[in-house]
Amino acid sequence: MIGAKLKIALLYDVWNEDPVAAAEKAAEKEEAAPARKPRKKVKKVKKEKTDREEIFEAIQKLGHEPSYFELDGRPQSLHSLSRCDADLLFNLTESFDGDDTKEMNVVAYVDLLGLRYTGAGPHSIFMSQDKAVAKKIFAFHNIKTPFFAASYRGRIEHAHDISFPLIVKPAWEDGSIGIDAGSVVKNVKEMMERVEYIQDEFDSPALIEEYIEGREIYAGILGNYERARVLPMVELDLSRLPEGTPKIASYDVKFEKNTEAYKLTKSQIAENLDEETMKRLSDTALAAYRALKLRDYGRIDMRLAPNGDVYVIEANPNPWLASRQEFAMAAKASGLSYPEMIGTIIDLAMSRYLNADFTNAAAMH
Ligand SMILES: Nc1ncnc2c1ncn2[C@@H]1O[C@H](COP(=O)(O)OP(=O)(O)O)[C@@H](O)[C@H]1O
Ligand SMILES: [Mg+2]
Repeated sequence: MIGAKLKIALLYDVWNEDPVAAAEKAAEKEEAAPARKPRKKVKKVKKEKTDREEIFEAIQKLGHEPSYFELDGRPQSLHSLSRCDADLLFNLTESFDGDDTKEMNVVAYVDLLGLRYTGAGPHSIFMSQDKAVAKKIFAFHNIKTPFFAASYRGRIEHAHDISFPLIVKPAWEDGSIGIDAGSVVKNVKEMMERVEYIQDEFDSPALIEEYIEGREIYAGILGNYERARVLPMVELDLSRLPEGTPKIASYDVKFEKNTEAYKLTKSQIAENLDEETMKRLSDTALAAYRALKLRDYGRIDMRLAPNGDVYVIEANPNPWLASRQEFAMAAKASGLSYPEMIGTIIDLAMSRYLNADFTNAAAMH
């Protein structure tokens, strides 16, 4: 089937975009048990072409037949997904009904339907999204990750004997949600206030981590099993952030185009990394990718300390594929055009399902 023309549906989620749909949804839910406090998923406003438009075009260029499939948080959209006749879903979902803890449930449901999809499975999304779980797995595999404590409403889930400065972040969110200048704390008072803020604002356990000074390096990875390969490293240069601002990829740095923080930072292919450091970064990234059973493609966020130590900050299954983003930048530097990068992800996913050796493995890895 590889090489054949495929029907590929781009699966993506929307929430609260259409007030009529939102009202209908609210009416449907009236009978339901009181929901937990809604998690604040902040919609990224993008004026240029969206990633899904770019991927749609790339799929067309590859000679396949793309379509959109929208999950709007209502059961009806799940019902219609069960009738989807695409050969492959290109999975761009990040949440269900705005709740990003449900990202894994979407693919778990797709597995039950027996449909094929690109990227990580539910177990992998869970292990990566819960950063405390990911860090415990990294420790088992001797992958360096900052020492940490995790706490939720007065209960301590785990605590290393950590020392300041620390960074306090939601244990579950991504996209730098809840990460700003106040995240890096230097004393107990600041730390406790920040923990309370994270719990109240995001209804999430707080992850309290040792703050690692150093270069911010992202490793994109393409492939599965022993054939996974690390793309050229990308560095987010945070050195120009104003004095007194912590050098972190805050929400402003990543998304708020009109802020000083956004304008003063930029990602580029990492330079001035000697061979040995490069190897340490690649090996660490691959080990993290495998430990969390990422699939097809992923991005590992790391910090390179001045003494050369490499720390994994987090693993991102199904990272953002917009052409300006780090993953595409790395793929391009490896010689892949944007459509070739999308084509590679499609082929990787299809071969997991079609290659006899991988049939069982596909469910597990
Ligand atoms: N332990 C840490 N030491 C130094 N910087 C950190 C640490 N944890 C997070 N950061 C900074 O915060 C950013 C966002 O943290 P991350 O855990 O990757 O959250 P997200 O899932 O929202 O991307 C990182 O890219 C990095 O700049
Ligand atoms: Mg990150």
